[in-house]
Amino acid sequence: MRRFAVRFLLLAGFAVLSLALPAAAGAAGEKTAATPDPAVSPVFGVSIPEGYRGWQLIAVSHRTDNKDELRAILGNDIIMKAYRAKTLPFPDGSMIAKLAWKREPMKEFAGAWMPGVAPRIEFMVKDSKKYASTGGWGFGRFIDGKPADEAAHKSCFPCHQANVKDHDFVFTRYAP
Ligand code: HEC
Repeated sequence: MRRFAVRFLLLAGFAVLSLALPAAAGAAGEKTAATPDPAVSPVFGVSIPEGYRGWQLIAVSHRTDNKDELRAILGNDIIMKAYRAKTLPFPDGSMIAKLAWKREPMKEFAGAWMPGVAPRIEFMVKDSKKYASTGGWGFGRFIDGKPADEAAHKSCFPCHQANVKDHDFVFTRYAP
């Protein structure tokens, strides 16, 4: 009887172990809050929106200070409708992409410039509940497809807030 009990205990012990070990290994491999998702921006969890390259043009911009870049600012259908109707604040679901390129001289024609290397792409995504503490906007900056670091993302809203609070924190106006 005692031998049977010992054997039973051993068997039961193995059974418990064989169930628990793979589960523990699985848990260790899963993402936790501490492991950042490589595809989304820190702080906001914004990913590169699918199809953004096909969005419509809101405006272009050009910076001659330290960057010397050409930029195109594109919007999804929701924000384009709001821009045209002059609706402010922009509705939830609005998305803006800012594409930037180093300015390159066009070799076929002096004085003409064209887009060169693209150093980064940036997005703003409106969700007034999820991003209530940053004016309803989630921000994402990507360099070579990878999100920039947390410090960079903590800088986004303060600058937009300081300069364009009266335009729903968006600099870009609809180009005539
Ligand atoms: C020091 C100020 C400053 C900081 C910091 C900043 N921006 Fe901007 N942002 C601007 C200015 C100025 C423009 C408009 C001119 C241009 O095209 O660059 C702009 C435009 C944008 C636009 C196009 C929509 C709009 O507001 O016109 C997006 C998208 C954007 N920024 C995303 C970001 C993200 C993401 C971050 C943080 C990783 C960020 N910005 C940080 C100043 C800033």
